[in-house]
Formats: sequence, structure tokens, C-alpha cells
Amino acid sequence: VLGPVTDLEITNKVIAPDGFPRTAVLAGGTFPGPLIAAQKGDQFRINVINQLYNTSMNTTTSVHWHGIFQHKSNWADGTAFVTQCPIQPNGSFLHSFVVHKQAGTFWYHSHLSAQYCDGLRGPLVIYDPHDPYAYMYDVDDESTVIVLSDWYHVLSPQMYTGPFNPSSTLINGLGRYSNGPASPLAVVNVTQGKRYRFRLVGASCDPWFNFTIDGHPMTVIEADGNLVDPVVVDSIPVYAGQRYSVVVTANQTVGNYWIRALSNHPNQTFEGGQSSAIFRYEGAPDQDPTSQHGPYVLPFDESALHPLINPGSPGIPEPGKADININLIPGLRGGQAQYTINNVSFVDPPLPVLLQILSGAIHPSQLLPNGSVYILPFNKTVEISMPATDLSPGGALGGPHAVHLHGHSFDVVRVSGNGSYNYVNPVRRDTVSLGLQANNDNVTFRFVTDNPGPWFFHCHNDWHLHNGFAVIMAEAPLQAELQESEAAPSESSTHSNLPLQ
Ligand code: C2O
Repeated sequence: VLGPVTDLEITNKVIAPDGFPRTAVLAGGTFPGPLIAAQKGDQFRINVINQLYNTSMNTTTSVHWHGIFQHKSNWADGTAFVTQCPIQPNGSFLHSFVVHKQAGTFWYHSHLSAQYCDGLRGPLVIYDPHDPYAYMYDVDDESTVIVLSDWYHVLSPQMYTGPFNPSSTLINGLGRYSNGPASPLAVVNVTQGKRYRFRLVGASCDPWFNFTIDGHPMTVIEADGNLVDPVVVDSIPVYAGQRYSVVVTANQTVGNYWIRALSNHPNQTFEGGQSSAIFRYEGAPDQDPTSQHGPYVLPFDESALHPLINPGSPGIPEPGKADININLIPGLRGGQAQYTINNVSFVDPPLPVLLQILSGAIHPSQLLPNGSVYILPFNKTVEISMPATDLSPGGALGGPHAVHLHGHSFDVVRVSGNGSYNYVNPVRRDTVSLGLQANNDNVTFRFVTDNPGPWFFHCHNDWHLHNGFAVIMAEAPLQAELQESEAAPSESSTHSNLPLQ
């Protein structure tokens, strides 16, 4: 039985989230887009309607549901030129899929060119009303989502070749820019003595953010839709595409405290309330905090994150001993203008890869874009290894890069900054930082090809994706037809406004 359809309209609108007006590309008319909330097992029926007209930016679009596996619904993944054609102006695309086994924090964003940098990004939360681990964190409130993003006063097409310097950092769509007005900041309201689950979404186009709340340590309980053994930290690096849930207890003196998300871009500071939001206790005055940050004594360590459920990576627990072992070597051509993976720069193919496969193309030599499509047979363990060191000239130019695989979470058996391998309980996530050149990293992860379809794998720095930092994992192409027929889109039924909130 198919549920009602929710419309998600993509529009152009002038907004001033940091006090500086510019025209944007928005989902549902707001930045960030409306929270899409659902429950584990829900059927999604979302009709993306393209109302764009501003030709100084892209007027075609697509919407991707980041982190959702799309098992048997690869066609609904929302990736322009991979699983679908771009949605033309006045056109629409009905995404119909079931979130079978996943719960946690996700997001949605444009997957066309660097369009989400112009605004099309929003949070997506899948609640699990029967979460068997809820007793472990026992929160009073889990409704708060904190969306971190960069923001630009320049339209994306004018920045395709860089420099990618954000104008400001926005938290829940509000922020201030250097020498700009004291624009309103986002406020997270808490009551003294209560425990909260906050969901952090790294909806960035380029920077990573060092996230802290003055005076309040955080217990990490989720990474990218995967519950983790709780770990207490006082800062979290949030890379483009990543999400975390943290539990925070409001156990300090009633007052205002800074929430900080300092970007790695040198032009971003805390001055005048930049890169900040307000953590406000009930009873505190309506004013900017004066709290001090640090001292930070509980550093974040990605290798200390372990899945709570079914930990352990698949396959023989030795480097290079998976069924299929792939080295992906990033590189650069022509300055920042063109990224490559194994010497090939990704370019949009003339026909979406899924349609090529459904038309019978199943060998790498038949598939476009040439050299960017990796065929993976069904039900094999795949190990992917990527160095952070081989970008040239001058090392990790434009890094650190955070890479994301569609259709899966993966087990990161070697995380950045840590030379050892962990096949026993490595962090499981869908977006991982490749780290910094100085650490001589070689980030390695594994997954099982149990989800047929072509899946995008790319740097989640949207400018880098635009400039070719991507490949396609064409998983079990012979099975793709089967999954297509089981979950083909059908005509819409009645309309409602759920599950948008
Ligand atoms: Cu957040 Cu290719 O996606």
C-alpha cells in the first residue's frame, strides 16, 4: 500500500541568513530546507517539483537523500546523471522508497553540480520508536537538529574554479559574517537538569567544523545513522556530509553559552558572534553569551568510535584480503580546476548510468563516463583504500577531503591519523575524512555488495565533486534490472504535507 505524496518545491528566493541578501535555491522555501522526519520502516513518497527560473544559477535540479540505502530503489537516489536525468524547470520527480532498517540522522541536498552550495540542503531524521538502546542515553528531548553549513555571498557558478572561501558559517540557517551586522543567531533552548539528544548535520560545501558547546561535554551516540558505543568528548570535527548524535546534559548555571562551529577556513573567526549559535537555559536573558571556550580535555578520536550493533568488518581481516581490493588515488590537474581519481576526472555522462545499465551495458568498456565506472559483482566484500598524500603539486591541496559512498555504510578499518587497522570493531559510517597529508594517511574501508545499482562515490566537498572528484560503483549490474522492476515508480495518489515538519 502506497502512502500519500508530499510535495517538495524547489524555488529561487532572496534570503539574508547572515544579514547579506542574495538569491538562493531552496527546498520548501527555507534555508535549511524543512526537517523531513519519519520512522524506521516508513514509505517515503516525496515529489520534488522544480520551480527554478533564475538562470544565473542552475535551473535544473535533483534531490538526494544522503545516507539512505535505497535498497531496491536505486532509481530514487536522486543523483543527476547517475540514477536520473536532471529535473527540468516545471518538471517533477516522485521519489518512492522505503527506509527499511535505518534510523538516525541524515540529510537531503541537491545532487546537481554544486547547487546545494546555493541553498538546497536540509535535515532528514528517521526515528526508531522501538530503539532497544534508548535506555542507554535516556534523554528528555531528542527534537533538536543542529545543521552546520557554510554560506556564500557569491553564486555557485562564479566559484566553480575557486577560491572556495565561504562568507560565513551558518548554524540552523543563521549566522554573521566578518564586519557584517549583528544578525540573529540560532538559539538552542534547554532546561536546567534535563538531558538532550542533539543531531548534528555537516551540511557543508567545503569546510569542516570543529563543534563545541562552552562548558558542556558531549556523549557521541551515533555516527552517520549508526549507533556507536557512547564516548564522551568536548569537541567534534564535522566534515561535509557527516552526522553525529550527541547527548548533552544541561547541568551548568542558568545562562547563555556559545555553541561554536569553527571552520577550517582561515577567514572564519568567532569575532562578533561569527561561527556561533546560542545555548540558552530557560530563565537566561535574551542576549549574546559571554562564556569562554575550553579547556578541551576530552579530544575526539575517530578510532575510538565503535558500532553498537553488529560490529566488525566483513571478509578476511587483513589489509588487501577482501574479495575485491581497490586503490583509489586522488590527483589534481590544472590547479584546483580538475580533480582526478586514478587519473580520470569524472564528467557527467550523456545518459544516466542507471539507464545505461538497464539498456544492457554491464562492462566497464561500455559504460560512460569512461574510466569512472567500477563494476562490482554481487555479494562480495570490497576493500577501498585511499591515500590523502598523493595530491600534487604541493601535497593535499584543497584537503582534507571527506569521501562519501551512496547506498551503504562502510567499516573504516583504517581511519585517518591512525596507522593501524581495526577489523574487529571499526567505525561504521557513510562519509569519512581522508585526513591530512602530514599524517601520511591511507584511509581504508570495507562493505559488502548487497545493494545492486550504480552508487556515486565522491568527495563531499561539493566544489571538488563539481570538479571531477568522483567515481561510480556499479554494484551487481546484472541484478539492477531485478531491483528496478520490484520498486518501479508509480502514479501518485493523494497529497498531504507529511512527513515534512
Ligand atoms: Cu550527500 Cu553524493 O551525496
